[in-house]
Amino acid sequence: MGTGTRTPWATVEAERDTAIHTLRGRVLEIGAGDGANFEVLHPSVEWVGLEPARRRRARLAGKARSHGHRTAPLEGGAEAIPLPGSSVDAVLGTHVLCSVAGPERVLDEVARVLRPGGRALFAEHVVAPAGTVTGAVLRLARPFTRTVDHGCDPTRDTEATVRASALDVADVVRYTVPVLGLEIPFVLIEARRPR
Ligand SMILES: C[S@@+](CC[C@H](N)C(=O)[O-])C[C@H]1O[C@@H](n2cnc3c(N)ncnc32)[C@H](O)[C@@H]1O
Repeated sequence: MGTGTRTPWATVEAERDTAIHTLRGRVLEIGAGDGANFEVLHPSVEWVGLEPARRRRARLAGKARSHGHRTAPLEGGAEAIPLPGSSVDAVLGTHVLCSVAGPERVLDEVARVLRPGGRALFAEHVVAPAGTVTGAVLRLARPFTRTVDHGCDPTRDTEATVRASALDVADVVRYTVPVLGLEIPFVLIEARRPR
């Protein structure tokens, strides 16, 4: 994993949102949370959400309706996506591969539900390089973030996990975001299901 360009968070968000806006067709959003991405999805998108947390899913359902999405969010984890194979044009996940119980299984499922040639877009914070202060702090913080932040593990090498999956990685943009004296690595990964 290379080190990313030092970038303010606002720029990372803007580039992430620009990438999200390019998704088209039937888009499955895994771990959709409170629906933070509704504002940036292209209006033509047929949104399908998946969210395991009951209360968050209820809020998500209301927000989905207010954005004109007619399908209620699906219940469950992305390790077992309740959709048929080859049934979506794109999969979106923002800040979610850090939280899932089994990222490898999730990526198998993403490859299964995508149509051949379909796109997957992930925006994730990832493990910091070995020997850095940030890496040491994130390792220490891990038990705490696992407990209080949606199961978040800040020490995952998500880029390597996506590269090892059945998806073809098309593009990776790496950033380093300065936060409270730390240098948090962040990636924007675009991958495709092989045709
Ligand atoms: C940090 S939040 C991000 C929410 C949203 N994607 C965003 O960018 O605002 C992580 C989300 O992943 C969800 N999550 C946790 N485990 C999951 C799993 N196994 N499959 C799918 N989503 C999961 C959590 O319930 C939470 O909504």
